[in-house]
Amino acid sequence: MLLDVKGLSAAYGLVPALHRVDFHANAGEVVGILGHNGMGKTTLMRSIMGYVKVTGGEIDFDGQSILGTAVNTRARMGIGLVPQGRQIFPNLTVEENLHVAIPGKKAEVARTTDEMLDLFPRLKRLLDRRGGALSGGEQQLLALARCLARHPRLMLLDEPTEGIQPSIIDEISDTLAGLTRQIDITIVLVEQNLDFITGLSDRVYAISNGVLDREIPKAELTDASAVSAFMGFTA
Ligand SMILES: Nc1ncnc2c1ncn2[C@@H]1O[C@H](COP(=O)(O)OP(=O)(O)O)[C@@H](O)[C@H]1O
Ligand SMILES: [Mg+2]
Repeated sequence: MLLDVKGLSAAYGLVPALHRVDFHANAGEVVGILGHNGMGKTTLMRSIMGYVKVTGGEIDFDGQSILGTAVNTRARMGIGLVPQGRQIFPNLTVEENLHVAIPGKKAEVARTTDEMLDLFPRLKRLLDRRGGALSGGEQQLLALARCLARHPRLMLLDEPTEGIQPSIIDEISDTLAGLTRQIDITIVLVEQNLDFITGLSDRVYAISNGVLDREIPKAELTDASAVSAFMGFTA
């Protein structure tokens, strides 16, 4: 088990956002977490990365508790986050966006940039384009490259399909599926898009009002009433 989240709770002031969340990701898996707006997806991703202070529970990464460690420590241990909205620097070029994400000396930066362009060949002809001039899909590729440039073992993806044209969503899905074959990576992704999640994930959970404690069995992902129930709607 690479990531083990046990009884995790978080709150904004007195208002709870996560309530005793339990889930795990095995090494090499793609784990999807399905949930509507406001259910706690971003809070969960940011808690695992270390941006949100948790109020209870445990997060183990590679068999070790990471609670209380800084974001940078978690990044060095091999956790990377592709944030919601992608957070590309709009006034920097694609190349500059990549370079600021890569630690190390010039030669190392050049080598890692080449490595990322091999993984994301579509970025090659966009290197001089400003981040803000990219389409949503192109920005998502850049955000993925920027995260992977630090060679994480666990990549957290917060709503990768948000604001992306349906035709390009399939391309992002294919790109991610390809990545899992090319590099050694474990992915936890949170999404509202059921088709995207089911297409990519080895296992799927649902989060509803900060509660995430049950996996949705594969067979039930194609059953509308079962999915509704998991999403917090009762018949
Ligand atoms: N910085 C914040 N301060 C106060 N409340 C927040 C903050 N961020 C999120 N929340 C609240 O926490 C809940 C979960 O939000 P969030 O994790 O962003 O959900 P999602 O990503 O699923 O849309 C929501 O009720 C939201 O309003
Ligand atoms: Mg969110």
